[in-house]
Amino acid sequence: MAFDNLSVVTRGGIHTITIKRPSKLNALNRQTLQELYGAVIDASGDDKVRVIVLTGSGDKAFVAGADITEIREQSPTEARTFSEFGQNLMSMIQSLDKPVIAAINGFALGGGMELALACHLRIASDNARLGLPEINLGIMPGFGGTQRLVRLVGTSRALEMTLTGKPIKAEQAHQLGLVNQVVPQDQLEAAVKTFAEPLVKAAPEAVRGILQATLQGAQINLEAGLALETARFALCCATEDMQEGTSAFLEKREAVFKGR
Ligand code: COA
Repeated sequence: MAFDNLSVVTRGGIHTITIKRPSKLNALNRQTLQELYGAVIDASGDDKVRVIVLTGSGDKAFVAGADITEIREQSPTEARTFSEFGQNLMSMIQSLDKPVIAAINGFALGGGMELALACHLRIASDNARLGLPEINLGIMPGFGGTQRLVRLVGTSRALEMTLTGKPIKAEQAHQLGLVNQVVPQDQLEAAVKTFAEPLVKAAPEAVRGILQATLQGAQINLEAGLALETARFALCCATEDMQEGTSAFLEKREAVFKGR
């Protein structure tokens, strides 16, 4: 599929989707959101893709939010559709059974931060700024920000960010557990690879089980979550990859997983 506002490239099982509207700091207009939806669906169905990386073009912004020009022109009914579309996209990303890493290379504001929140891991460059500044526009987050942020950092911190609208620096986001690692900007790609490459080689059933048990488990009670974990654990143990991983350990060699 060809895109106007995205570039996509797969190398060694790592599929990088770059949002490309540099003159608008990669703001998500409707077309870009639709393209992103298509790109994520393509990647999820492609067996060669083992890990997805989302990033923004240039060295200033990951994504500076939903496109404010379009927001301004929407009717309330269109705003509802826009919010639902954005939420569906973010939820689809979060529920993928392949790891999705946000490479946050600058401003991650509004819809940009909401996109990062939907990813499974977040690696930020030291110039990154993360925030939900919608309140300054007389609106509020609409792509899942009020729901995912509170689950990651708790009510007090989440409300501080949404009610003040003030972006925080990458290092502070790291201290809050909002990003997994902060690195100098010229080392962002390498840092993302350090996370992604072992996941490319990992046993896919184990990756799927960890993602689904963790993310679905966080939404249900402990007993149901434990039952889900048991079911996924048993599935892992039905694979050749389990035989290979445990044998490799006992034979003191590196495991070679085949996805079977
Ligand atoms: N929607 C639409 N356009 C946006 C945008 C957004 N979310 N964020 C930035 N842009 C555009 C600017 O309008 C500007 O376009 P122009 O050159 O045609 O005037 C261009 O991107 C560059 O942005 P600019 O504001 O000039 O850069 P800056 O370095 O001075 O400031 C930010 C950077 C990120 C602090 C600032 O752009 C900003 O606050 N953006 C909006 C963030 C926001 O509120 N996001 C939530 C949206 S719901």
